[in-house]
This record gives sequence, C-alpha cells and structure tokens, in this order.
Amino acid sequence: MKLKIAVLPGDGIGPEITEQAVKMLKSIADRFDHDFHFEKASVGATAIDQFNNPLPEATLDLCKESDAVLFGAIGHPKYDNDPSAKIRPEQGLLRLRKELGLFANIRPVTTYSKLIDLSPLRRERIEGVDMVIYRELTGGIYFGEKSLNEEDTSATDVCTYSVMEIERITHLAFKAAQKRRKKLTLVDKANVLETSRLWRKTVTAIAKEYSDVQLDFLFVDNAAMQMILNPKQFDVILTENLFGDILSDEASVISGSIGLLASASVGKKNALFEPIHGSYPEATGKGIANPLAAILSAAMLLDHFHLTEEAKAIRDAVEISINLNICTQDINNEYHYSTEKVGDFLDGLISEVDNSFINNENLNLGQMTII
Ligand code: IPM
Ligand code: MN
Repeated sequence: MKLKIAVLPGDGIGPEITEQAVKMLKSIADRFDHDFHFEKASVGATAIDQFNNPLPEATLDLCKESDAVLFGAIGHPKYDNDPSAKIRPEQGLLRLRKELGLFANIRPVTTYSKLIDLSPLRRERIEGVDMVIYRELTGGIYFGEKSLNEEDTSATDVCTYSVMEIERITHLAFKAAQKRRKKLTLVDKANVLETSRLWRKTVTAIAKEYSDVQLDFLFVDNAAMQMILNPKQFDVILTENLFGDILSDEASVISGSIGLLASASVGKKNALFEPIHGSYPEATGKGIANPLAAILSAAMLLDHFHLTEEAKAIRDAVEISINLNICTQDINNEYHYSTEKVGDFLDGLISEVDNSFINNENLNLGQMTII
C-alpha cells in the first residue's frame, strides 16, 4: 500500500517518541512491502517559536493532502504559567482537529498482565479490563464561544452540540460495540446540562438501529468513580469532548502508565494518530520518555488502513518488549532502557519475520545483539 504520512512531532518529548513510531512504520513497510512516504511539519510551541503560529498554513496543507497524520505531543510550560498568552500551542492541535474534521477520538484502554502491579488499583479490579473510549473531538465547550470581560473579572465558555455532531460519532461507537462485547455506555451530565439531554435523546433514538447492542447511561461524576471501582464493566464509552478528555486520563491509570495509551482521531476524510499523553517537558531530550503510546498509535494507523497483520506485528512486538522488561523507566524502574533503545529493540523484532526464538525461557538479555 502507498501512504503519505504527515509527521508532526510537536513539543517536548514529541520528537523523540515520534521518531520511534516512524521507525516502526518504516520497518513494517520494509517487511510487508509497502510504500510509506513521510513528511515532517512544525506544530505547537515549536511552530510559535519559528512562525509565530501554532499551526502554520504549510503544516495544515500538508496534513490535508496526506493520507494520515502522525502526531507527537503539544504544550510548553511557559504558556501554562501565563494565562494571558493569546497565542498558545494547544490552539494548533485544536485547530488541526477542527480543520480536518476529526470528530471522533478513539482511545482504547487495555491491560498487560506483566504491568498490572504498576497500577495503584488492585489486580482483581483491573485484570482483563478492555474498553474503548469514543470521545467527541470537534465540539462542546472546547470550541464554543469564549469571552473575558474588560475588567478580567468574568469569563465564559459556551458548550454547544448539534444533533448532527452527536449522531456521527454515535454511529461509529455503536458499530465498534457491535464488533466487541456489544455494550455502550453514554457518559453525560443529563441531570444538569441541556447539551447532555440532547445527547441522551439522540443516542437513544439511534440505539434502535443497533438492537444487538445494550445501551446504558452514566452521569460523568459517577462514571469517574466507576472507572476506579469496577472498570471491567465498560466496553465502549461514548462521551462529549471535555468528559472524554478527563476520563481517558483517568483510565490510563488502569494500564499502569499514561505512556501506554494510544489514540486515533478520525473524520470523514482525514485521520490523525497520537499518544494521549502530553509533551512531558521535564523529560525532553533525556531519552526517558516511553515511546510505546506513540508506537501503538502507529499500530492504530495501520488498522485504520485495514493493515491488520501489520498492526498486529507492532502490538506483538510491544507485548514481547513488555514481557521481557525492555521498557523505559516509567514501567521498569530497575533496568530501564532509553526511548531509542526500546524503539531499536522493537524494530529488531519487527524486521525479524521469525521471532519465535525470543521467549522468556531462552532469552539471555545481556546477549541480545539488537539491544
Ligand atoms: C488531549 C490533550 C488536548 C485536549 C490538549 C493538549 C489540547 O489533553 O489530546 O487529550 O485537551 O484535547
Ligand atoms: Mn487530554
């Protein structure tokens, strides 16, 4: 398959982790005989420094004409600590989502048995968790009208949703549920918010078309609690933009590290793949950032183009690296490997068509040549 992939490394650890994800895709292209073409562009704080614009037009054009976008991370502390900054890195990502029409953000949450004890939650509560969050991405309070009065004493963020915006992601979420355990939970705040009541009404009407899927509802405050108390109850969670942002960070605790959670953002035409974590500025350039979320996002990219075997090759390699403890320090505090070394190891596994020789019994870590 021929694919043009726009690479937007962004800020902080973005470039280091994205480099590893690109490495995986190149390795996959070699092994499975695909033609992947990569083109880099600037976004976020980096783009503000260079062009005074968090999403330069050239970057947007490149993304529009590419088959997919591989995104790193965005954000810089100098803006976080300055509420008066008018130009902010995050605006780059938000505008990109809007311009590309990426209305559905898909965030799977799974566990790796080797990592269960990394989570502060008890093993019996989280072992076997397998859910996916469908977060609406181009509407709601993120994109409503904003204002601050002249005296800086009062501010507004408007939350708006149209039926059309709710419908299009709802269909995707139901379709996903049909392929999974056939359960969909709509998370909202319908006891307080008008927009949430519109979500309930719209989703309930659509549910008739998917009678094999069980639909239930949870208020977001309760959902936040259930996520910790009994996360196994969830299959597909459907929710609006802000609730999805918050719940997906919370859900990452189940996997043991936010450095493991990948995401796909899809629209009618374009698609973007990014880890859910931020730019982790404290770790920039130290080689300690976990590249797995970016690498698993690359696997989601392959899935998106129905390259199932290729995506599986990446996920299998990730699983092997976790089982062998060839991981960064967030996962393996004792003998950790650098961001790049983890990438190299996975690259080695992917290029090695027959990696059945690697298993926990016969592997002597110290003698692995690819490390
Ligand atoms: C995310 C991030 C973004 C969001 C920020 C960087 C704007 O937290 O992708 O979850 O809030 O959507
Ligand atoms: Mn977030």
